[in-house]
Amino acid sequence: MANFQTVAQVSDLAPGQLKLVRGDVVIANVDGELFAFSSRCPHDKGPLDKGKLTGEVVICPLHFAQFNVRTGQALPGGVTKDPVPTYAVRIEGDDIQVSKG
Ligand code: FES
Repeated sequence: MANFQTVAQVSDLAPGQLKLVRGDVVIANVDGELFAFSSRCPHDKGPLDKGKLTGEVVICPLHFAQFNVRTGQALPGGVTKDPVPTYAVRIEGDDIQVSKG
């Protein structure tokens, strides 16, 4: 059963922002829609929370692999084809809650 935990407040993230929570989970605000994924790039553990969010794509700051934050899939043409793990997100009031499954 999904085990949701509060990791941040909705008001913590403006659209276009990334936020590191719980050590290894990144929350992305894509035009008000929230997504959660691992902070560790599957290529060589680059810190995706320090990457750049463009639309629903995050770009790793180390070797610039690009991942869709909605699906976790790597975009073609980068240094890795491996996806980044994504997590379920729900909103309860002003709480952002994430389940790592
Ligand atoms: S560590 Fe992310 S692209 Fe290399």
